[in-house]
Amino acid sequence: MNVRFEPGVRLRGRIAPPADKSISHRAAIVGAMASEPVRVVNYLDAADTRSTLAAVAELGAIVERRGEDLLIRGCGLRNAQPPPAPIDVGNAGTLMRLLPGWLAFQQGASFTLDGDQSIRRRPVDRIAEPLSLMGARLEARERRFAPFTVHGEALTGIDYELPVASAQVKSCVLLAGLGTDGTTVTEPVASRDHTERMLMRAGAAVTRKTAGAGYATTVGSTDELELEQIVVPGDLSSAAFLITAGVLVAGSRMVLEGVGVNWTRTGFLRILERMGAIVLGDLEPEGAFDVEEPLADLDVRNAPIEGTEVAAHEVPLAIDELPLVALLGCFAEGETSVRGAAELRVKESDRISTVVEGLRGLGADIEALPDGFVVRGSGGLRGGRLEAHGDHRLALLGAVAGLASQEGVEVVGMEAADISYPRFADDLRALAS
Ligand code: S3P
Repeated sequence: MNVRFEPGVRLRGRIAPPADKSISHRAAIVGAMASEPVRVVNYLDAADTRSTLAAVAELGAIVERRGEDLLIRGCGLRNAQPPPAPIDVGNAGTLMRLLPGWLAFQQGASFTLDGDQSIRRRPVDRIAEPLSLMGARLEARERRFAPFTVHGEALTGIDYELPVASAQVKSCVLLAGLGTDGTTVTEPVASRDHTERMLMRAGAAVTRKTAGAGYATTVGSTDELELEQIVVPGDLSSAAFLITAGVLVAGSRMVLEGVGVNWTRTGFLRILERMGAIVLGDLEPEGAFDVEEPLADLDVRNAPIEGTEVAAHEVPLAIDELPLVALLGCFAEGETSVRGAAELRVKESDRISTVVEGLRGLGADIEALPDGFVVRGSGGLRGGRLEAHGDHRLALLGAVAGLASQEGVEVVGMEAADISYPRFADDLRALAS
């Protein structure tokens, strides 16, 4: 589906961005692992998180609609049922990487996971390595791609150092760690900690201490998980598209309600503050480790911006928003660069290539680096066509680029946005009227 996004419409008003995708995936998985029913408020209704609900239902959990909420009746920690056919994770990398952590200690049971073409290109060796060290038996195509089979075993605890900062891999090891007598995972720099917080709320013994520039997180042996309710905050990664549009489109002013501002997710806001676009109020302080996920209303307005350098340690805290940093860089005074972000190459598309080629096609002065990009601000973007490559964040990037451009942008493959933000066009219409 090709959709044109035209310039010149200022965005005004209040809106609640969609629910957080990361936390919704975790809510469905932890709900399925729990012994008592878990009510989930504000579960994200989008393609990726529907895949997770379907997956946990295949494993024996029962998902009921209760008005706007979900009630998940779980299987219990050690009682997932192997489905007769492979579990289809669709396009969801988070599901592909987290679920095997639980499945790895379902003793005597085997589970196969598969997904779409994009999933089949994304590596699973990064979870296969720690899970094998714990004693799970695994099979993957060419040892690193889906379809991927997990044979559940009695697991042994490990002390694992992540080679790259990845919340998905960290979460997989922590979930598997619940089935051991204690497992520690150390990350080189901090990454999102939603799994840790949710497990603590569910009664697991989770502790964390600083280790170099990151954290060492330990999960103790756990008999059961129990929590009554999970309230999913608004997704900062989805809100980031509206925030960027608000900053770039003349005359814009909006309030985004109920956005999750866990400090391990707000790297993009700190980058924007450096660029001169926003003033950060009372957000959760860096280093906090609370069981609750903090919320805030964000007040955004059109502002002139200047270039900035994004360093490697900031990358995991803004990983999904880095394409937007490239777009902002086109409008900033001076140069904007991102380094230490080679992880972008293994997202839903190779986001270094697709962002650089996409924005260059719209008139940007941008260059790819092996681990990032450099943009020279050129006073804006002409416009044109941008190919989404089946990547939701690329489709949404093209849409925002269109609103801020001189001539508008036609996004080729806009349906990709349904993965995380199906309501995007409606939300824009509401803000534009
Ligand atoms: C996610 C973690 C990030 C992010 C992805 C969601 C998560 O991946 O890019 O969209 O929910 O844990 P990595 O931490 O593996 O880089």
